[in-house]
Amino acid sequence: MARKVILDVDPGIDDALALCIALFHPELDVTAVTAVGGNVSAAQATSNVQAILEHLDPPRLPRVGAAADPEGGLPVDGRYLCGVDGLGGIGITVAERQHLLPSEKVICDQVRAAPHQITIVALGPLTNIARAFARDPELPGLVGQIVIMGGTLNSPGNITPTAEFNIYCDPTAARKVFRSHSTKVLVPLDVTNRLELSYDVFNLLPDETNPVGWFLRQILPPAFRNYRQQLGLEGIHVHDTVTLMSLLYPSLFTMRSMPGDVEILGELTQGMTVFDRRRVPAWRHNMEVAVDMKKDEVIERIVQGLQKAAE
Ligand code: RIB
Ligand code: CA
Repeated sequence: MARKVILDVDPGIDDALALCIALFHPELDVTAVTAVGGNVSAAQATSNVQAILEHLDPPRLPRVGAAADPEGGLPVDGRYLCGVDGLGGIGITVAERQHLLPSEKVICDQVRAAPHQITIVALGPLTNIARAFARDPELPGLVGQIVIMGGTLNSPGNITPTAEFNIYCDPTAARKVFRSHSTKVLVPLDVTNRLELSYDVFNLLPDETNPVGWFLRQILPPAFRNYRQQLGLEGIHVHDTVTLMSLLYPSLFTMRSMPGDVEILGELTQGMTVFDRRRVPAWRHNMEVAVDMKKDEVIERIVQGLQKAAE
């Protein structure tokens, strides 16, 4: 039986890569894709989700949720790695705009329709999930689990010295989700930064006669270019796809139960994820955190997933 998932995304090239795998994976039933502002504005993220779904045309079309920026707006501009439109500037647009419900409403409706069965894969800021919990206070106990790409354990941040991008974009929302009585898995930068896709991946992609192959060959070159120019790297991180792999292939990841929280006020530490690792922690254990992965096998699964998407 395929696992029901909601993908909450701020596409974002690495979100788009994760979508290419998830939408065609036989073990997943993507019931909804909900847009959230982060890498790009809420409006751009919503447009990108629709354009990606229109182009990829998956066998089962998911519900789509519209993003709205967090109160006070987004604190950062993530386009330095994803390009002006968030998808490498390739300019795919939406042919047929639909009337969309807000992402948090779609999340509430989907979870209520299938209590304890839905996994939310949170690949952007946690704005929508916090809003869904505020809209329906019983929701945390009705979600199957939330798998979150975000935070750091011991690594430096990637948007400030102490904070990872998704958490930093909306630390108040992240704290609400961390403190909620939902079942959570966190995949932090400590793990996702260890995997870089090299240019060799182009030899393994589906060819461009296939919609997935064409799309990947459009969005990946700008990603490699931006990673080289901005970070001096010859490869690209695929944080969101690694996070999706932790859901699909948990045996490839080492998890540890931890009490985690989010700094929301610190002048230098806003958005920092903090874990109580004292010998006798005072905080409640509230999540499983990925602390290691079998990197080479994860890369193999990512390539397999991209190839399977084109079958
Ligand atoms: O820090 C990496 C995360 O921030 C990824 O999800 C990326 O897409 C951005 O949302
Ligand atoms: Ca993302």
